Amino acid sequence: MSELRLPLPDLDARTTEMAQDPLPTRIAVASAEAPDAIPDAKLTTRRLCAFYGDFLALRDIDIDVPDGRITAIIGPSGCGKSTLLRTLNHINDMVPGFRATGSITLDGAELNGEARDTLSIRRRVGMLFQRPNPFPMSIFDNVAYGLRLSERLSTSDLHDLVRASLTRVGLFEEVEDRLHRSALSLSGGQQQRVCLARALAVGPDVILMDEPTSALDPIATLRIEALMRELSGEVTILVVTHNMQQAARVSDYSAFMLMGEEGAGELIEFSLTRDLFNQPKDRRTEDYITGRFG
Ligand SMILES: Nc1ncnc2c1ncn2[C@@H]1O[C@H](COP(=O)(O)OP(=O)(O)OP(=O)(O)O)[C@@H](O)[C@H]1O
Ligand SMILES: [Mg+2]
Repeated sequence: MSELRLPLPDLDARTTEMAQDPLPTRIAVASAEAPDAIPDAKLTTRRLCAFYGDFLALRDIDIDVPDGRITAIIGPSGCGKSTLLRTLNHINDMVPGFRATGSITLDGAELNGEARDTLSIRRRVGMLFQRPNPFPMSIFDNVAYGLRLSERLSTSDLHDLVRASLTRVGLFEEVEDRLHRSALSLSGGQQQRVCLARALAVGPDVILMDEPTSALDPIATLRIEALMRELSGEVTILVVTHNMQQAARVSDYSAFMLMGEEGAGELIEFSLTRDLFNQPKDRRTEDYITGRFG
């Protein structure tokens, strides 16, 4: 059981590996010391179920997402990973026939109550999607979008915040001479960083990422992973990935999901990432990470 099945670098090595990344990047990689005790939960679900019409897509999900850490969600296609993320920030409320039961709390406050304020939830719980989805407007307006919706800012404060957000994702210098050009004119990797800057601009507590690098080349992928490490500590990140090396490289904790009876997604195991990959508690996790199914 102690055999290392994946090229899971130890966490110090990971930091070194990223520091040696040949990219001309200014991104400093945060220290990635493995916490032994699970920090307090930022986001928690209890008996969370999600339905598309009569179809039960998530069954009784109980998860405690650790504050200021990166948690990866892995599992076979169709097991409900995207549904879980989309339920957490209520994007799925827009899907006809969708409903979620059970509890979702952020810092102990219920987010799944009747009187919820979805706009403010989405400000606190941002999301990054598989395909970069900048709005069809300028780079500046993309990043300013949420700020304009949520706050009355002077022009100079707005500029400062947009600049700070673009700087945080290592993009400001690349785009400062074309802030008023369409964000759609950027490369895929740059577009994804604009989307991350847009999410960060409003000061979220949590960012949900649904396969955020699967449409990107390896260099753009490394940049996003380095940014994730840099943001951890300040922001709680919950990331879905099909790439187990990525989960191993970037996350502190990992959750494994699987379809149970009648296709409903269930949470099988939640552990420190190194434990989940090196000594999974559940046979089904072991089968999945060793490629025996899924
Ligand atoms: N809008 C929808 N309407 C009806 N059913 C849906 C909808 N979105 C997802 N489902 C169903 O819910 C289940 C979970 O889908 P989901 O997209 O959450 O899986 P996933 O784990 O993200 O898969 P993948 O790894 O392929 O992205 C699947 O059976 C899917 O067909
Ligand atoms: Mg998905």
